[in-house]
Amino acid sequence: MKATPFLMLGIFALPLIWATQRPAHSNITNTVTTVADSLQADRDRHTLALIEKYKGREQDKAGDVFPSLKVQALKDLPLERFYRAMNLGYSRGLGVSCDFCHNVNNWADESNQHHAIARDMARLVEFTNAKVKDLPALADKRGMTVNCSTCHQGHKEPPRLAPPAGTRPPQGRPRNNQ
Ligand code: HEC
Ligand code: HEC
Repeated sequence: MKATPFLMLGIFALPLIWATQRPAHSNITNTVTTVADSLQADRDRHTLALIEKYKGREQDKAGDVFPSLKVQALKDLPLERFYRAMNLGYSRGLGVSCDFCHNVNNWADESNQHHAIARDMARLVEFTNAKVKDLPALADKRGMTVNCSTCHQGHKEPPRLAPPAGTRPPQGRPRNNQ
């Protein structure tokens, strides 16, 4: 049981390993990966502290552990998947660490403006995914979903222009991501 936090950390690291194993197309891709690496340690540190604090509640719904959650998709997640949503989906998706949206000494403090924007963005994502299901010509792509990374691509502000041809990482749905 003592090994659980480290196993979890391994799971968090998987997409990162997957990302770094992809062929590097250019120096731009390498730079982005390096920045993400240094933030990942900070995110994992905060996540591990929460894992310790709520040990034994990994399968509880996040909404039961954190009653002030308002986004339905987050409330319904088992706690261990909620951590991944925060760590990989929200933080890595925007290329930031937890403190971009949170007071890390008081997670329930919602005074940070980025926290409010992120909650609205989560509603935008829910709305969009509900609409995607109704698109008749996309009937064979029902598994298609939009998430934070779809637009943000590791940036606080989504890039306005696509990067030059050849610098974009391989396409596809991110695995283990929200
Ligand atoms: C882009 C903004 C953003 C980032 C980055 C972010 N979070 Fe969150 N976090 C939120 C939002 C928004 C909520 C509330 C969601 C809701 O209302 O359902 C939340 C809720 C939480 C909660 C529940 C707090 C409570 O008591 O209600 C915890 C714990 C948490 N996040 C941990 C983390 C950790 C750990 C990280 C870093 C690995 C992180 N968050 C990164 C936006 C963010
Ligand atoms: C449909 C595209 C799209 C999706 C999906 C999306 N965003 Fe955004 N987001 C934007 C745009 C556009 C902006 C405005 C950026 C600017 O001001 O240039 C933005 C801005 C933000 C900001 C403010 C950044 C800043 O610099 O102040 C936060 C925080 C944010 N988004 C969080 C999220 C989170 C968390 C998710 C996933 C739940 C998400 N976004 C999903 C398009 C998107």
